[in-house]
Amino acid sequence: MKPVNEFPSADGLWTGIRLAADAGVEAAIVVEQGAVRWVGARSALPAEFAGLVPHDGGGALVTPGLVDCHTHLVYGGQRANEFAMRLAGATYEEVAKAGGGIVSSVRATREADEDTLLAQAAARLEQLLADGVCAIEIKSGYGLSLEHERKQLRVARRLGEAYGVTVRTTFLGAHALPPEYAGRSGEYIDLVCREMLPALAAEGLVDAVDVFCERIAFSLAETEQVFKAAKALGLPVKLHAEQLSDMGGAALAASYGALSCDHIEHLSAEGIEAMRRSGTVAVLLPGAYYTLRDTHLPPIAALRAAGVPMAVSTDHNPGTSPALSLLLMVNMACTLFRLTVPEALDGVTVHAARALGLQDMHGAIAPGMPANFVLWNVREAAELAYWFGQQPVRTVVRQGRIAIG
Ligand code: NIG
Ligand code: FE
Repeated sequence: MKPVNEFPSADGLWTGIRLAADAGVEAAIVVEQGAVRWVGARSALPAEFAGLVPHDGGGALVTPGLVDCHTHLVYGGQRANEFAMRLAGATYEEVAKAGGGIVSSVRATREADEDTLLAQAAARLEQLLADGVCAIEIKSGYGLSLEHERKQLRVARRLGEAYGVTVRTTFLGAHALPPEYAGRSGEYIDLVCREMLPALAAEGLVDAVDVFCERIAFSLAETEQVFKAAKALGLPVKLHAEQLSDMGGAALAASYGALSCDHIEHLSAEGIEAMRRSGTVAVLLPGAYYTLRDTHLPPIAALRAAGVPMAVSTDHNPGTSPALSLLLMVNMACTLFRLTVPEALDGVTVHAARALGLQDMHGAIAPGMPANFVLWNVREAAELAYWFGQQPVRTVVRQGRIAIG
């Protein structure tokens, strides 16, 4: 991997490209000082841009840079053993109750030092970037103490700097009850709200706050306590909501203006209505659905009918979604969840950006926005959902620089 400052500038005139939305027409993009200055049909290019440094796309299809809006990328170890347990018949909840699950990643994360975590997460990040990712959310939640949550979030920030990729950090201190607080959930949530979150926010390590609201994690009342603490600090919230059961978490999150509610396999009609009213994004995570061999589909048709924006993400984590390709999630969102191709592509661009509050910087190719776009070796947009296990990336322009290609 080249250091970021050695990536060549993408400034100039990009031609020989076709925009995914209108693939029959040759397009042009003008990049100036790292931002998009002009985009449209090549035939309509203003003469003033014709003499700029040329970049020939060789007929590639172009989309906005991808945004992976829900990941748990930084952790120690891995959990292939649990995969084997589940193959032998154990459920995710049974594995968690047997001392595996999130808590086993907590042990490994606490044992690892910051540089080790960085090296391991960097290798995973490189895989996601190779697939055209230009912005990524990274959650804490495998430290579950001030010291170890800080370590995770610092690694997330360092990854952003090292790779020149936009990283949004999310504090997920309320991911699981750490073993030393067994039977004392209330005390742990007090610690999260009164000490961990304020300290980490003061250090500039927290862009948003998340909770795992579930029978095997935290209750609705505990979730609200964390949301109140976030609100007091002016931080946006999101929620792991209704993954295994309908806890009413989505409606609560919506009442706090949540950026997104994620998983939502068991989302109710009331939850959908609340999300519609608050403009909360529904983040679909087909990798977790697939890994857990879930059969309870998220209410896609009702979300679509309500006009709730749907994003798609890897949910990369060592337990339920060890996925390292966002494009594979596009395929799965179509195949498993029956999204249309344009819905799935919007789900990893414009709606994913909104799920992170990044809609002014990512998820679209538009004048004034930083240049984040991907050139793909495909003829038509449907191929981005159709192939799986291949890497059709030709060029990635990330933050105004040619990061790949
Ligand atoms: O998003 N649902 C909770 N958290 C993760 C799983 C974390 C784990 O099993 O380590 C998820 O699926
Ligand atoms: Fe998750």
